[in-house]
Amino acid sequence: MLGLFKGKTDKGAIRRRIESDEATRMRRKFAIWYHGAQAQKGATVTVDGRDMLMLASNDYLGLGEHPKLVEAARKAIDEWGSSPTGARLANGSRAYHTRLEEKLAAFLGKEACHLSSAGYLSCMSAPATFATRGDFIAVDRNVHSSLWSGVAQSNARYERFAHNDAADLANVLAAEPEKTPAMLLVEGVYSMEGHICNLPALLDVARPRGCFVVMDDAHGLGVMGKGRGTAAHFGLTDDVDVICGSLSKSLSSTGGFVAGSGDAIEYLRTHSKQTIFSAALAPAQAAAAEAALDLIQSEPEHIERLWDNTRYYKEQLATLGVDTWGSETPAVPLVMGSRERAYYVWKKLWDEGIFTVLAISPAVPPGRDLIRTAVSARLTHADIDRACAAIAKALGKKL
Ligand SMILES: Cc1ncc(COP(=O)(O)O)c(C=O)c1O
Repeated sequence: MLGLFKGKTDKGAIRRRIESDEATRMRRKFAIWYHGAQAQKGATVTVDGRDMLMLASNDYLGLGEHPKLVEAARKAIDEWGSSPTGARLANGSRAYHTRLEEKLAAFLGKEACHLSSAGYLSCMSAPATFATRGDFIAVDRNVHSSLWSGVAQSNARYERFAHNDAADLANVLAAEPEKTPAMLLVEGVYSMEGHICNLPALLDVARPRGCFVVMDDAHGLGVMGKGRGTAAHFGLTDDVDVICGSLSKSLSSTGGFVAGSGDAIEYLRTHSKQTIFSAALAPAQAAAAEAALDLIQSEPEHIERLWDNTRYYKEQLATLGVDTWGSETPAVPLVMGSRERAYYVWKKLWDEGIFTVLAISPAVPPGRDLIRTAVSARLTHADIDRACAAIAKALGKKL
């Protein structure tokens, strides 16, 4: 039997591919990503013994060290221990899950909500669960990797439409037989570009076709619509069937959620592999997210400061003539246009003690290589002045 494969298989192929991978070699050589901080205090992170200003955090509301979050997380560990040690379906369901699900659903204007231990899992599970073989998914071409993973797992056919482009969505849907069940898959706020979903125009096209609408609002929750997200911002919550997202951005925790009708969430609990076969959200993470959700409603000043900082930052970037890809939100890319220039400017900022994230193609479209920055409510105007002075210096410009 073993002799059957003699001379036909290359037994070392996978090991050799791993050991000789060029992308990994280059990543390690240039040491751009995976920087481990030794300490963190507010907007300052200590990397390699040096204090740096964090200008790339998704902690938009800056609540990560808020005493109420820290206290809630501590209390949850005291009460529940460190982990639910199992999936919701099996031994891992806890009262703290149900409480947060009910609060989050009410906040988002949906009947029900389901939590999981990562935003990636929740966002993947939405297209993966609600679409199936024989369905068709129209996907904005700029959506997050988690949604693409869900599209692949759904086994539905799919077609990309041009980013935020209702006319192209119409073309894509028109090419499909009308009887095919269809899903529209978008983000509320696009994390790289900082664009807001063109929801009203997309819905004008999707509604008559009866599309089931799924929106990943990882970057809209806590930011748009007085915190309630992008659908609420447009007053279109009822037109979006499912809102999924992350607890790791404005809610300063980790974990994810899917919210929708009671029927949709019960269907997800029956069919989602990401739910059935993955351990539930940990107590401290749920407690931190719940405290953040309460704070968004009781202390509106965090959202106000976030938007004030966003305006202040963008005014200076405009003076410098930086291309921010038309960002409309606190996610602010500095588009550099080529890998070399993006790396050069990122490195200059790094050397000046400003922590940003380099994003190069294929992570962004060719020619759109960029430095991702994000505004947080925790930044002071003095922090932003310091960041902008470094950006000006890196670009060889004067403010
Ligand atoms: C749009 C979007 N969806 C989903 C996720 C996944 O969330 P998490 O990092 O909490 O797993 C992210 C995070 O990068 C994201 O930007």
